[in-house]
Amino acid sequence: MKYLKSSLTAAGLLLAGALSAQTAFHVKAGEVKGEVQPTMWGLFFEDINFGADGGIYAELIKNRSFEFYQPLMGWKIQRKEFNEGEILVQNRGNENPANPRYITVTAKDAKDKSLGMTNEGFRGMGIKKGNRYDFSVMYRQQEPGVKLRLELINAKGEKIGEGELIPNQSGADWKKQSISFVSNAEEPKAKFNIWFEGTGKIDLDMISLFPEDTWKKRPGGMRADMIQLLADMKPGFLRFPGGCIVEGRDLATRYQWKKTIGPIEERQMIVNRWNTEFVHRLTPDYFQTFGLGFFEYFQLAEDIGAEPLPILNCGMACQFNTAEVVPLNELDEYVQDALDLIEFANGDVNTKWGKVRSDMGHPKPFNMKMIGVGNENWGPQYIERLKIFTKALKDKYPEIKIVSSSGTDPNGDRFDYLNTELRRMNTDIIDEHYYRAPEWFLQNAARYDSYDRKGPKIFAGEYAAQSDRIASPNNKNNWKTAIAEAAFLTGLERNADVVVMASYAPLFAHADGWQWTPDLIWVNNLNAYGTPNYYVQKLFSTNKGTHVVPLLLNNDAVTGQNGYYASAVIDKKAGELVIKVVNTSDKAQNADFLIDGVKKLASSGKLIELHGENLEEVNSFENAVAVSPKQREIKVKGRKITAALKPSSLNVIRVKMM
Ligand code: AHR
Repeated sequence: MKYLKSSLTAAGLLLAGALSAQTAFHVKAGEVKGEVQPTMWGLFFEDINFGADGGIYAELIKNRSFEFYQPLMGWKIQRKEFNEGEILVQNRGNENPANPRYITVTAKDAKDKSLGMTNEGFRGMGIKKGNRYDFSVMYRQQEPGVKLRLELINAKGEKIGEGELIPNQSGADWKKQSISFVSNAEEPKAKFNIWFEGTGKIDLDMISLFPEDTWKKRPGGMRADMIQLLADMKPGFLRFPGGCIVEGRDLATRYQWKKTIGPIEERQMIVNRWNTEFVHRLTPDYFQTFGLGFFEYFQLAEDIGAEPLPILNCGMACQFNTAEVVPLNELDEYVQDALDLIEFANGDVNTKWGKVRSDMGHPKPFNMKMIGVGNENWGPQYIERLKIFTKALKDKYPEIKIVSSSGTDPNGDRFDYLNTELRRMNTDIIDEHYYRAPEWFLQNAARYDSYDRKGPKIFAGEYAAQSDRIASPNNKNNWKTAIAEAAFLTGLERNADVVVMASYAPLFAHADGWQWTPDLIWVNNLNAYGTPNYYVQKLFSTNKGTHVVPLLLNNDAVTGQNGYYASAVIDKKAGELVIKVVNTSDKAQNADFLIDGVKKLASSGKLIELHGENLEEVNSFENAVAVSPKQREIKVKGRKITAALKPSSLNVIRVKMM
């Protein structure tokens, strides 16, 4: 272990040492230790770092319905002459509490850009040449006669796309109207102008601009490049919507799923809890519009073949912030939300909530099998509330597995208390979180070897090796963190009979809008790339196999000897043996794998290698694949696989079993 530590802590080490002696590992391919659950490697999604608004939710207009604390945040009024009240923010709070604000535009012979508004997007708008953009607006005519001239402009102020919307002249009700136009240039930092022309008075709300090329081309949908990176991982589950966002800084700003479904203009926006969380990364323009709500998350999970895992508030606000709790005798509403969510996801179309789902376009149930109660909540207050939820949920839906929290840390008094209580309750699945130094991940590769095989299952729900320290803005997604995670993941895989799910956190970060590092996938307005950590997760997930088998060195699990961490599975469907071996040392090493329990192996197999030139290496927008998998063939002699392993590398070996 000491040896390993030294090779991983020497930052920037040159990793080109001489080849060390051959190590002989022993794989007992006929001795199944447990099933690898199809859910094993999955995704943790939270609207942090512009993950949803400004991220996967492809809306380009920021503050489209004027509900930010400052109603015109993100907008700039353009006018040649100042006339008081030409663009007036109205608040109809009593009539429409979910969407109180709109604007009234009064124009008098407006022309030649004399009156308009510019939206700055989420740190600009990413616009692609030749792509179609769909503009829509809700309006109510007061005095017909105003038309809207629309312009996309680049960072220099030049027009790169335009359209015109002439509001229907009839009726005084709210209505929605759309037009589309095509951009003639690519621009990462575009803005959007609306010029008002003519004479009249009109109310406007829900001013929206979406690209056509969303995921599955769904109107008002998600950014396809970001979702593709998720789909490529073939994730086993999708946990949503967080994270601390579930808890809220206070109970008033907790996540309430019922307010995130139905027509988007009826979804009540709230502040994003990451808006002011970190003084070093204040993001005052970060809100949750819920254009992306629970229906869309379930649909996303279905699209990418992942089991949905919604996490709900348990009646406690974030204990790092206000730590508000709902009195136990007022918890019913929260529990009912959980029961109703199961009906929303799985209920027949004739049930109340099943019908809501069906009316939103998904008559077929989502077949949800798990639900999380609370995120990172701790103390007896959590256990008291969890017990109430558990009773109600199990009484009505005994088949639904409950995921419960073991707090913020993987050890310490809070963890020990919760771990003891949760095991006493014989809860289904315990969610453990670890944001720790790379060395912790190495030292804990054997963490689950001694866990109770008959107790609750484990969800490694949030983890990421921290190159600096938790919540530091200086954390990097470098190879040092990624290889340490890879070593740790061999320990999760070896214990797949106990660990049934695992996900890195957080998932996304916008280069200009992040609050938290490190993150699995980085994006700007036009591009997205996976970090070295992403490729580690992806390699485990896309090579997950079906059953764990022992991989031993001198009869011991491989948890750091000679810098090695390793695990093995067989894939019964593919008829393959899959070995994962991490060489954390600074030396190239030759490894032999002697395979028992198979009649024969194919004479060659493949080795997929993920390797960093040095521990500080990162991926970037300029070089998105600096650290990315490379595949080569390897020869197999009889039942022996010999692999030359690069220094500091994760290697996945796949060989057909005959
Ligand atoms: O992943 C970022 C945050 O870390 C999550 O919201 C929270 O659950 C954890 O503390």
